[in-house]
Amino acid sequence: MSVTAFNAQAVREREFPITESWCYLDHASRGPLPASHVAAVTAFANDLMCAGEPFAYQTADKMDELRGLAGGLMNAEASDIALLTSTGRGFGVVASGLDWQEGDEIVTYAKEFPGVVIPWLQLEDRGVRVRFVEDRDGRYEVDDVAALITDRTRVVALSLVNFVSGFRAPIEAIADLCKPRGIWLVVDVAQALGAIPVDAQALRADVLTAQVYKHVLGGFGISVCYCSPEIREVLRVASAGWAGRPKEFIGSPDYTIPLSPDARRFEASHPGSLEVRGLLASLTLLTESDPALYQGHIADLSRELTEGLQARGWVVANSDRPAERSSIVSAVKPTGTADSLDEDMRKAHVACSVRSGRLRLAPHLYNTSQDTEYFFECLDRSV
Ligand SMILES: Cc1ncc(COP(=O)(O)O)c(C=O)c1O
Repeated sequence: MSVTAFNAQAVREREFPITESWCYLDHASRGPLPASHVAAVTAFANDLMCAGEPFAYQTADKMDELRGLAGGLMNAEASDIALLTSTGRGFGVVASGLDWQEGDEIVTYAKEFPGVVIPWLQLEDRGVRVRFVEDRDGRYEVDDVAALITDRTRVVALSLVNFVSGFRAPIEAIADLCKPRGIWLVVDVAQALGAIPVDAQALRADVLTAQVYKHVLGGFGISVCYCSPEIREVLRVASAGWAGRPKEFIGSPDYTIPLSPDARRFEASHPGSLEVRGLLASLTLLTESDPALYQGHIADLSRELTEGLQARGWVVANSDRPAERSSIVSAVKPTGTADSLDEDMRKAHVACSVRSGRLRLAPHLYNTSQDTEYFFECLDRSV
C-alpha cells in the first residue's frame, strides 16, 4: 500500500490517456508519451508547417535547457551533459576516444545488455581484451569485479540496473576500486534514469549514458550522456561536427575555433528539433513531479507487485538486498514457462514483458493500485 504523499492519480488523469485503455507496466521496454510531450511536439510541428523555423538557433537554446534539466535529474552540471542519439553512442564516445594499447583490458559483466559489451569487443583486433565478471544468479559482488582488475584495466563498463534481473549494481563501491587506479568507469543508466535515483556525484562514474524512451518517457532519437570533466580531458573526439563548438560559434566559417570544453564537444550535430521539444516536456514533467517523491511511489508499486507475485508462488528473481533493488520486478513462474505470458496479457490490455523466460514488470509514476489489482486479476485468469 502506498504511504507516500505523491499524487499519482492527478498526473495519471492529466498526462497519461494510455491509462484509459491499458494497464501499462512495461517501462523497461518503452514508456508511453505524456500528453504534454505530444502537445509540445504538435505545437512545434505546427510552427514548422506554418512558419518554418524562423529562429535558426532556437533549437540550440532549447538544447541548453534540455542539458540543464537532464543534468538536474542526474545531479550534474549542464556543461557535463552531451545530447547524443542512443545509449550505445555514449559507450562509443569512450571506445573510439581512448588511445588503446595492445594488452589493455576492459571489465564488464557476463549478463549485460549487449549494447554494454559489443563496443569493446570491436577493440579485440587491436589486442584489447574484454574480461567478464561471472553471473551469480542475476547479480555479482564488488569483489568479483575487483578480482578481474589488473594493472592493464583501462575501463570498467557496467549498467546501473540490469535489464533482465533488475539488479542495481554497487557502482559507488566499484568507483572506489576504479578511481585510485585511474580506471575509467562507464555506466549504462538506461534502466534507471527516471525510475530510481541516478546521482552523478554519488556514483562517481566517468560516463553515465541513457536513451530516454523507457523510464524518462521521452520518446526516441535522443540520449543523454554525462561525461566527467576528467574523462573529457583525455578522450579524442572521434566523430566531431559543427555542433560541438561553443554555441555562439556553431555557424561560424572560422574553422580554427576549437570544440567546446563542455560535454557538448561530443555532439556532431543537432538531434531532431521535434524530439528536442518533446523531451523538454517529458523532463519538465519528471522534474516538476519531484523525483524523490514519485520514485518513492514507484518503489511502493514494485513492492506491491513483488509481494503479490510471491503470494501466488512466483519466485521473484530480484536480489533480496534492499540496496540492489530497482523499479524492475523480475519473476519466474512457479510451473511451466512465462514465455507467452506477455502476449496473453496484451490481449487483456496489460503491457508487461518476458526476458530470458522471466516476467518483467516496471511501473511508473502514474501507475496506481488500480493497475496492480487489474494486473493480478488478469494473471490469475491466464496462468
Ligand atoms: C540496459 C539497456 N541499455 C540500453 C538499451 C538501449 O540501447 P540503445 O539506446 O543504444 O538502443 C536498453 C534497451 O533495452 C537497455 O535495456
